[in-house]
Amino acid sequence: MIIRSENTSDIEVITDITKAAFEDRSFSLNTEHFTIQDLRADGALTVSLVAEVDGRIVGYIAFSPVTISDGTKNWYNLGPVAIVPEFQGRRIGTILVNSGLTLLKSMSSEGIVLIGLPAYFSRFGFWSYPQLINDGTPQEVFLAMSLTERIPNGTVDLHKAFKQLSIIEKDAIAEVIIDYAIAGIKVDLEDPAIESLIDKGILSATLDGKVMMHPSALTEYDSYLAQVGQFRATEMSRVHKNPIMAAIKYGSG
Ligand SMILES: CC(C)(COP(=O)(O)OP(=O)(O)OC[C@H]1O[C@@H](n2cnc3c(N)ncnc32)[C@H](O)[C@@H]1OP(=O)(O)O)[C@@H](O)C(=O)NCCC(=O)NCCS
Repeated sequence: MIIRSENTSDIEVITDITKAAFEDRSFSLNTEHFTIQDLRADGALTVSLVAEVDGRIVGYIAFSPVTISDGTKNWYNLGPVAIVPEFQGRRIGTILVNSGLTLLKSMSSEGIVLIGLPAYFSRFGFWSYPQLINDGTPQEVFLAMSLTERIPNGTVDLHKAFKQLSIIEKDAIAEVIIDYAIAGIKVDLEDPAIESLIDKGILSATLDGKVMMHPSALTEYDSYLAQVGQFRATEMSRVHKNPIMAAIKYGSG
């Protein structure tokens, strides 16, 4: 087996194996491959390793920088780590994690956090610490390992690539934009996808039972649409040229 850094010709395979590894995991929203793509696009893949067996890539691991509210520097997040199902249980995950940790140590990293199962990651020395939290992540699965013996004290912010919307949420965004622009249809505020988008500050409910999209989300809607399928993408490029859409976009009614 060879462990090496990714190169551009690996990108498609990395997407495929990540999708395959997380496909049947109940805890997953199956957005991990989007996270990797966004990290890469933002130059935030500090370490990006593939495991190759007989010329075939069967495993992948990423590490990206984090910020910590107490000002601690040089900490990184581990993940996603993904092994194709038919190669799981052959120590490839263990070798990838250890290789990534060795590389980070050589880069003077001071510690690593991750969201994952203690049953798996405790073997590497990852534990949950009450003083180190990540908003929205249950404490028992937010794990850390210091490379200096000092555990920071604060809130950890992962790269924004980890705040992926589910496909259902993206679809709801597309629906809202299209409904607004074409017919001004009121959306169902009790739809769980709409509710979650309101919770995440992407939409806000108006008094007349409609929703408005947050301006920063509007500027990003093209990328959501790129991921919800060709039909909606086509629909959107049409809507984009529509004057009603422009009115929504610039908030002038
Ligand atoms: C989790 C994952 C990365 C582990 O890689 P792997 O190559 O299959 O695991 P390894 O062969 O290195 O396992 C080493 C040990 O961990 C155990 N283990 C593997 N997956 C485990 C899990 N999900 N929970 C608890 N223990 C686990 C193995 O049984 C083995 O135990 P042993 O030392 O007693 O024999 C891999 O199974 C995977 O890609 N899963 C789907 C995606 C995922 O869950 N990623 C992690 C969250 S980011």
